[in-house]
Amino acid sequence: MKKAIYISILLIAAGCATGKAVETTVTGPTQADVDRIQSKFPGTTLVELNEGKKLYENNCNLCHGLKKLSSQSEEGWRKVVPPMVKKANNKNGGILDAVAEEKILKYVITMSGN
Ligand code: HEC
Repeated sequence: MKKAIYISILLIAAGCATGKAVETTVTGPTQADVDRIQSKFPGTTLVELNEGKKLYENNCNLCHGLKKLSSQSEEGWRKVVPPMVKKANNKNGGILDAVAEEKILKYVITMSGN
């Protein structure tokens, strides 16, 4: 019985380790991502998604690690990005404007797989 409890704890701990919420590298967008996202964001280009990636990497790890892009639904990202951009602007001197915010949003939604 004790052994069973011990094994359960180990399994739960292992599950948490593999499901960690932050990552050190984020996935780069490809032309396939650009093609896939046209229905949601018409006119989106690979350059724009790469700019979003750079903005995300440079501004969204100032307080916590880079959050997994799959950790939020589209709805979740739409809710969380605006207040987080405000937070980031308090730290980086306010360099993120509405255009930058839109690029971050498009990038995270596209790469979240939602
Ligand atoms: C000034 C600090 C700060 C900056 C900069 C920042 N965040 Fe956060 N963020 C927080 C805090 C505090 C929390 C809540 C604790 C946590 O989940 O780590 C949080 C939580 C989150 C969450 C989890 C929300 C949830 O409900 O699970 C996401 C996703 C996120 N941030 C994304 C971003 C993105 C995207 C950016 C860049 C635009 C960003 N953050 C920049 C402080 C910051």
